Amino acid sequence: MNPSDISSSFQQSDSGFKISGLDLEEIVHTTGTPVFVYDAETIRNKYHHLRENLPTEVDIFYAMKANPALAVVKLLTNMGTGVEVASRGELLACQMLDINPENIVFAGPSKTDEDLRTAIDMQIRSINVESFEELKRISHLAQIRGITARVELRINPEFEVKGATVNMGGGPKKFGIDAEKLDDRFMADALGLPNINIQGLHVFSATGILNQEGFLQNLESCFSLGAKLNKYFLVKSIDVGGGLGIPYKDGERELSIAGIRDKILQMFETYWFIRDNGTRIILEPGRYLVGQSGIYVTRVEYTKDSRGVDYVLIDGGIHHLLRPALIGSSHPTFNLTRRSAEETSYGLGGCLCTSTDFLAEQVKLPLSTSRNDLIGIFCSGAYGFTEGMPLFLSHDIPAEVLVHNNTYSIIRPKVPIEEVLNQQIVPDNL
Ligand SMILES: Cc1ncc(COP(=O)(O)O)c(C=O)c1O
Repeated sequence: MNPSDISSSFQQSDSGFKISGLDLEEIVHTTGTPVFVYDAETIRNKYHHLRENLPTEVDIFYAMKANPALAVVKLLTNMGTGVEVASRGELLACQMLDINPENIVFAGPSKTDEDLRTAIDMQIRSINVESFEELKRISHLAQIRGITARVELRINPEFEVKGATVNMGGGPKKFGIDAEKLDDRFMADALGLPNINIQGLHVFSATGILNQEGFLQNLESCFSLGAKLNKYFLVKSIDVGGGLGIPYKDGERELSIAGIRDKILQMFETYWFIRDNGTRIILEPGRYLVGQSGIYVTRVEYTKDSRGVDYVLIDGGIHHLLRPALIGSSHPTFNLTRRSAEETSYGLGGCLCTSTDFLAEQVKLPLSTSRNDLIGIFCSGAYGFTEGMPLFLSHDIPAEVLVHNNTYSIIRPKVPIEEVLNQQIVPDNL
């Protein structure tokens, strides 16, 4: 894999590494390292490719948890996406960005009263309900406010998706209502609750889906659940979750979505209620839209060998990019300062004083890799900065940068550790 295989915006030559024509060295000269750099053009291309391959009945709602940077969310909503949120904070972010509540859906397994009140007051398109108890709570809170809350039933499905990195259905889960619980009794009770409008269902069954068959199988399974529920109420919305994958490793291929429009349209012929009801289908991708846009840029501090193993030690680590430690899988990684045909395998260790801090057990880098070289850890635009644990071991919190419109903007400044330390309180009388 080369940087340009990940995005055509990434170009490496002997004169350095460029993102959408801008010199990376110049960017990091301003921000320092480590830093997360996102490329707007890559996000735009991913969105347009997906949009063009989906029928008009399908709405794209960006799963904001993948990268909640306000500038990234704005970029996507400007192009026409809705937003899937998972906390009160993300609801407030939508308010800050003036996102139409009609374009917001809210899922989350343990929503507090405060979360629910905010969502009800904003009158968002849907609160995705994870249990009967939650439904009763929403009904109660909505009644107090004199509002009818629109909800979808989040279902914990019985099926699994072929070829996914992580399956969310098919067993006991903290998410959603077990599919088999949705019987006559349950539905009568649910539909009898005041100030509730049940308009559809939501299923998030897997993440990291890299094959088209798995993606389509998920859709069809959701439509089939929709057909069952349509006996009880008019299913106006089916949220099929996100889960579209991106390749991280050599040998993994891009999810091919060419031709899916016709296959989805064919499904509408079988699941005729979709056309009859004018049902909207919601797809809520996160990783697919933003993952490949981001590079976690770090600098080499040391190289060393230990008992026959070569190490490159960088100024970043898993406190900023947790995924390699979390799922034991590395990201495409390149030396962005120098290229060489002569490469060797290195352990890529971070700056944290803990043995779990490896960005890669083995990564091929030029033999001449040395101090001050920039090491780019690619595909870090989703579940990167946001999934990190930036305070672990008291390092500076890195900046985030967006490259866009032939320029770049710091969209979240670096937080020096001094600022974090100064926020703490040591009681006087200790
Ligand atoms: C409810 C829900 N929707 C969408 C997503 C986005 O998933 P992905 O980034 O795999 O597309 C997630 C991820 O956890 C999720 O929990």
